[in-house]
Amino acid sequence: MKTICLIPGDGIGKDVIPAAVQALQTLKLDLSFVQARAGFDCFRECGEALPEATLDLLRKSDAALFGATSSPSGGMKGYRSPILALRRELNLYANLRPCQSLPGDFSKPGIDLLIVRENSEGLYSGRERREGETAIAERIITRAASERIMRVACEQALRRAAQRGSPPVVTVVHKANVLQVSDGLFRECALRVAQDFPQVTVEELLVDAAAMKLVKSPQSFDVLVTTNLFGDILSDEASALVGGLGVAPSANVGEGTPVFEPVHGSAPDIEGQGIANPVGALLSAAMMLDTLGLVPAARRLREAVHATLAAGIRTPDLGGAAKTDEFTSAVCRRLV
Ligand code: NAI
Ligand code: MG
Repeated sequence: MKTICLIPGDGIGKDVIPAAVQALQTLKLDLSFVQARAGFDCFRECGEALPEATLDLLRKSDAALFGATSSPSGGMKGYRSPILALRRELNLYANLRPCQSLPGDFSKPGIDLLIVRENSEGLYSGRERREGETAIAERIITRAASERIMRVACEQALRRAAQRGSPPVVTVVHKANVLQVSDGLFRECALRVAQDFPQVTVEELLVDAAAMKLVKSPQSFDVLVTTNLFGDILSDEASALVGGLGVAPSANVGEGTPVFEPVHGSAPDIEGQGIANPVGALLSAAMMLDTLGLVPAARRLREAVHATLAAGIRTPDLGGAAKTDEFTSAVCRRLV
């Protein structure tokens, strides 16, 4: 029996996490679910964005499914994004963001790439301050985190190569021509670790060129590894190639309980309308099943999502008219 901690969070997180749970329950696996709270609604009601009780439940669980939380731009006194705190508390230093073609004219064909984003430092280190009319954000890059993330990228490339029968290629994405000290260190560490993986072809690309190539020839990529902010931006960009934020899954992995979450946010513009696309959450649940060793169930879930899309059942963000629960029911019918 595996215990899954559910953290729907805010906005459409409250729609897509129940959708994922419905699919997991239909698969009739040996899973138990516990509910936990985090996010802006939680902060407003109990004064904390990430209560200690949630962290306790998380630590006792085998995996977690996280929806999304709202963070007002410009900030609010006492509130900080719980997903950043959660990644730090559990030392989930790697963010895996796969991007695969889906059946439908909303997706470009032939794409199967993985963005490995450093999740613990970079520009998201939380070291920001105002000095009068000047604002400063510190971009922390360490040898330990850079080597660690490159190792994850190379291991993922080998795993994918074994599955797909294709050669493993890791593209190191940085801006070491301008950020000579910080990305200079990231690049140096990545190329050092590359020597431990002689089977992996390692290439490098400046982040601006990578952004362009991702649009122009996304089919040419296998694994991309990069620092926190670049990975965040490139992965949202990549999602647009296969249907947008509504279909993009991710995994936060490292030392503690792995946390799986759709890449999208709380989408206040469609909150409460029942039209959120659950595909990102469903594919995140499939990644979770893979990590828990429930590989055949993960494959069945992915195939059911693909078959549902191929049948033309789609939420409005993909040009369809299906509601969240209609899409989810159509997936579940393919799982029984
Ligand atoms: P967002 O991802 O919530 O929405 C961007 C656009 O994509 C919106 O038009 C939205 O309707 C659409 N969209 C996103 N997911 C969708 C889905 N599943 N189905 C259909 N359409 C979907 O990003 P935005 O608007 O920049 O941020 C909204 C809030 O979410 C902010 O408070 C932000 O801080 C938070 N956020 C939280 C994240 C997390 O919890 N990991 C990640 C990104 C943003
Ligand atoms: Mg993002």
